[in-house]
Amino acid sequence: MQARENWGSRMGFIMAAAGSAVGLGNIWRFPYMAGENGGSAFILIYLAFVFVIGLSVMTAEFAVGRKTSLAAVGAFKSVNPSWTFAGVLGVVSAFFIMGFYPVVGGWALAYVLKSVTGLLADAGAIGDSFGAFITSPAEPLIWMIIFLLMNIVIVAKGISGGIEKAGKVLMPTLFALLILIAVRSITLPGAGAGLAFLFTPDFSQVTGQTVLAALGQAFFSLSLGMGCMITYGSYLSKDEKLPNNALIVTTLDTGVALLAGIAIFPALFAFGMEPAAGPGLVFVVVPTIFAQMGGFGTILSVLFFVALTVAALTSSVSLMEVVVSYLIDQRQMERKKAVYTTGAIMTVTGILSSLSLGIMSGVTFLGVGVFDFFDILTDKIFLAIGGMLIAIFVGWVMNKEDLQDELTNGGTIEFGLFNVWYNLVKYVIPVAVAFVAVAGIISIAQTGLMIFGLAVIVLLAVFSKKLG
Ligand code: TRP
Repeated sequence: MQARENWGSRMGFIMAAAGSAVGLGNIWRFPYMAGENGGSAFILIYLAFVFVIGLSVMTAEFAVGRKTSLAAVGAFKSVNPSWTFAGVLGVVSAFFIMGFYPVVGGWALAYVLKSVTGLLADAGAIGDSFGAFITSPAEPLIWMIIFLLMNIVIVAKGISGGIEKAGKVLMPTLFALLILIAVRSITLPGAGAGLAFLFTPDFSQVTGQTVLAALGQAFFSLSLGMGCMITYGSYLSKDEKLPNNALIVTTLDTGVALLAGIAIFPALFAFGMEPAAGPGLVFVVVPTIFAQMGGFGTILSVLFFVALTVAALTSSVSLMEVVVSYLIDQRQMERKKAVYTTGAIMTVTGILSSLSLGIMSGVTFLGVGVFDFFDILTDKIFLAIGGMLIAIFVGWVMNKEDLQDELTNGGTIEFGLFNVWYNLVKYVIPVAVAFVAVAGIISIAQTGLMIFGLAVIVLLAVFSKKLG
């Protein structure tokens, strides 16, 4: 039996966990979701979900991971073998998110280089060149593979040597870059309209769809609902204060999302552009903004896409780690072998996913292409169900005294809000998330896809004893 790895320091853990949380979800997805859902009202609902539901679920995931010292599958299994499927669902979710995440990570990487090689020369052509780039057969594949190789190198080095070191260097770099860009953005003439869009709520804009999108975004952005934070918590030392760490990570994640909004929207309004630009927002609008700033814009654009790549990388390593730690803990595989196996499969799904936006766009499965298949199933079904399962597991399967013991480090530290947290996790969160999950699942336009997603969960529940 190999000795279990641990984080080297408190700062190292926080940077790694914040590194997992802060990713494409904050800088790529959050701004376009806010832009499409009316801005400030969406943001307010999002903040409420993050600090009531997200923070509680993150605390629960940390507690489960550290209590059991096992990654997602083993953690559930060791408490109650019938719950193994909840962990396996997490491993499947990690594979599915990694089915599209490295594609976008590759775009970010490509745009670092494109920022210097002429992308910004013609502001009017940036939208077309983005479309041409993501649909071309070879170029995005190469960038995606380079991005995956970076993941493989980091995860192969293990917890304190790879993931922790990367987070400690890359996360502060990211904060500094975003602050710099945000300051530039809010000092542009006409930036005020962007700040008003972000911070003056207009509730007439709120629909059921807004609420749904806000919850999905909260889970995705905080890396919740699939055992990622269980896994990271499992490497955490026994004298760390779990609720404090959860609060710090949640606050950092939210701070970066807001910072990304402050970096993008004031400049966007200052230049008279459209907030509801969709997934192309970051890749089209941001370079367009920078193109109008001359030489300084080129530097900012390079920095911005370095930041986006960094954020994506520290998140995707956490997704890969969920699968790798399953193979290490449950299948007794050696780390390097686990990483190479996982990396190989993810390369194949990533290639299919990238091609589905271009030459394979005619090839659909249950009504959608490969990229959308992975995105919709995780966003609309797996993460919400996973989050609900974790809350039910902690509230109804685990022992209350054990949880109190874990969250107060055996009674040596205070957690004054324990009962509030416990009742939220036991009663409020399962019901609230179930409500939103059902609405989200019903909203999937492709019935076949919806049934497939639900069938995966049922099949896992039936066969999980074998898989665990
Ligand atoms: N939170 C990351 C982001 O915002 C993505 C991510 C990493 C994730 N690990 C996760 C999402 C686990 C859901 C579950 O980009």
